[in-house]
Amino acid sequence: MAPIRLIRHAPGAPGLCWLGLGPGLRPSRGLLKLQRLLDKHAFWAQGRSHSQLRRLLSGSEAVVTLWRGKRLVGFGRATSDGLCRAVLWDVVVAGDLQGRGLGRQVVEALLGMPAIRRVERVYLMTTNSAGFYRQLGFRDAAPQALLVKP
Ligand SMILES: CC(C)(COP(=O)(O)OP(=O)(O)OC[C@H]1O[C@@H](n2cnc3c(N)ncnc32)[C@H](O)[C@@H]1OP(=O)(O)O)[C@@H](O)C(=O)NCCC(=O)NCCS
Repeated sequence: MAPIRLIRHAPGAPGLCWLGLGPGLRPSRGLLKLQRLLDKHAFWAQGRSHSQLRRLLSGSEAVVTLWRGKRLVGFGRATSDGLCRAVLWDVVVAGDLQGRGLGRQVVEALLGMPAIRRVERVYLMTTNSAGFYRQLGFRDAAPQALLVKP
């Protein structure tokens, strides 16, 4: 298998966001590839436009991408106040590469980034991957009301 490269982006991922940069800071049509990755493998994040993705990236203090050559094969991001609370969002690995430890790499990289690593509590919401996060040290939270304003 070609080597997989993990990129820890600067807060807001400006290179990916505005120039589509990928490995080696080369133009890689990164935003288009991110849109396709989410459309295909992240059911909750389908149909996001480029301008929406730019907005999400700009508001994320930690962003990680995984590349196999020119192919974007993994992604994850987090928002954080840098001190008390952070939330992981949109962790995804391309379907044909799942189950090889790449999702773990994405989450561990996010948790180690400056905006996250000293935060008191890191939250996430998941529909069917709780077992994955438990393996990474996340625990089921004591029952709390999760409220949503659509
Ligand atoms: C969830 C996801 C990111 C995991 O990535 P991955 O590369 O397949 O996971 P890894 O290979 O790093 O798995 C790490 C460990 O978690 C386990 N694991 C992976 N997915 C799991 C799941 N859904 N439930 C329980 N355990 C899981 C693996 O078996 C592995 O255990 P091991 O170390 O004992 O072998 C990936 O499957 C994915 O993108 N799924 C679709 C999108 C999604 O649901 N994302 C989660 C959003 S909250």
